[in-house]
Amino acid sequence: MSILQGKLVVLGVSGGIAVYKSCELVRLLSKAGATVQVIMTEVAAQMVGPLTFQALTGRPVEVGHGGRLASAGMDHIDLGRDADCIVVAPCTANTMAKITHGIADNLLTSTVLASTCPVVVAPAMNTRMWQNSMTRKNADVLRADDRFVLVGPDEGDLACGEQGPGRMSQPEEILTEVQRIVSPWDLKDKKVLVTAGPTREAIDPVRFLSNRSSGKMGFSIAHAAYCMGARVVLVSGPTCLNPPFGVEVIRVESAAEMAKAVEAQAGSAHVIIMAAAVADFRPSKKSTVKLKKGKDGLPTSWTRTKDILASLGRRYKGKKKRPLLVGFAAETGDPVPSAKKKLKAKGLDLVVANDVSQADAGFSVDTNRVHLVEKQLITSLDLMSKADVAQSVMQKVVLLLNSR
Ligand code: CTP
Repeated sequence: MSILQGKLVVLGVSGGIAVYKSCELVRLLSKAGATVQVIMTEVAAQMVGPLTFQALTGRPVEVGHGGRLASAGMDHIDLGRDADCIVVAPCTANTMAKITHGIADNLLTSTVLASTCPVVVAPAMNTRMWQNSMTRKNADVLRADDRFVLVGPDEGDLACGEQGPGRMSQPEEILTEVQRIVSPWDLKDKKVLVTAGPTREAIDPVRFLSNRSSGKMGFSIAHAAYCMGARVVLVSGPTCLNPPFGVEVIRVESAAEMAKAVEAQAGSAHVIIMAAAVADFRPSKKSTVKLKKGKDGLPTSWTRTKDILASLGRRYKGKKKRPLLVGFAAETGDPVPSAKKKLKAKGLDLVVANDVSQADAGFSVDTNRVHLVEKQLITSLDLMSKADVAQSVMQKVVLLLNSR
């Protein structure tokens, strides 16, 4: 189940030009399963009409000092108490100063003051206001408080025509911080190494051998691990995906580059999850010039690439201090028998197996239907989004780590 399912997120919107981005944030939060209650300052409500947020959330929106919810028996005390998380986005310099100093002069600031839940703050303001020593001190106060998380601001072109830090972070990044803050940090102090995507094995300067992997599964796993409080390193082959927020990404191309990057990171990892579709073969010789179809044809000699996971399995075999090793098995047809073989042959703790011949599972699509294969147990999951599969895989990883 997704992290935000059934959670109440109060979105406090203060009056910055970035208000329009908060509409997208509401959409993302709702799509992720959260119930979103929007409260706006009066200035914010002059920039984007409350009706927009009301339509997006399906709930009445409170402006200024509020009042509409109060008639339904809900005020700042109720909101502060019932919220699983408060997000202030955009958070102007003024609202940030008020929050920092415990000022409660509108519904947004009083709700924050009356709350005990985590608060994600996304500052958005002019560069000089952000760089002002007063604002910096306020930001430091929030950073030092465990209950608050500051996201951004980003650097770039500002609405006022200036350039520099002050832009509100992207809605996807704010969503990630909300998901992370409401999650139990089961992987706190753990390093999770994830691989994703295909590899490309060069034939000549213009051609390569690759496969259909989109990288979505591995990227979702990296995101899920980050939300569980882990430090995440993602070694990725070529994909079109945006890097998951909060994750260190190492881009590679070939199986050999992936092997090198994984081996450099493996020593300090507590969990290694090989979701990449590593090419099993590469041309024995890469041509330095473009091959001509008339005289050259395709390479006839192919060499097996290093099996990264199997070599990790051998390296840590019988060792007391070893990372948890998770592999993937993409098969056409029933994937369980071959997953069992891979589990044993490669010395793994878990294999995530799926049948890629089904239209709604496997490569490129957003859903997957997987079996979690352990030595003594096979758990078959229903068809679900790759984000939910990632969540389930990571929950299994936590169980396996805790049972060691
Ligand atoms: N893997 C790897 N290094 C390789 C090939 C695969 O680390 N050179 C990892 C994959 O990331 C995945 C698992 O091994 O986690 C897949 O196992 P594998 O037996 O290689 O699956 P297939 O490539 O599908 O192999 P086969 O064609 O034998 O089924």
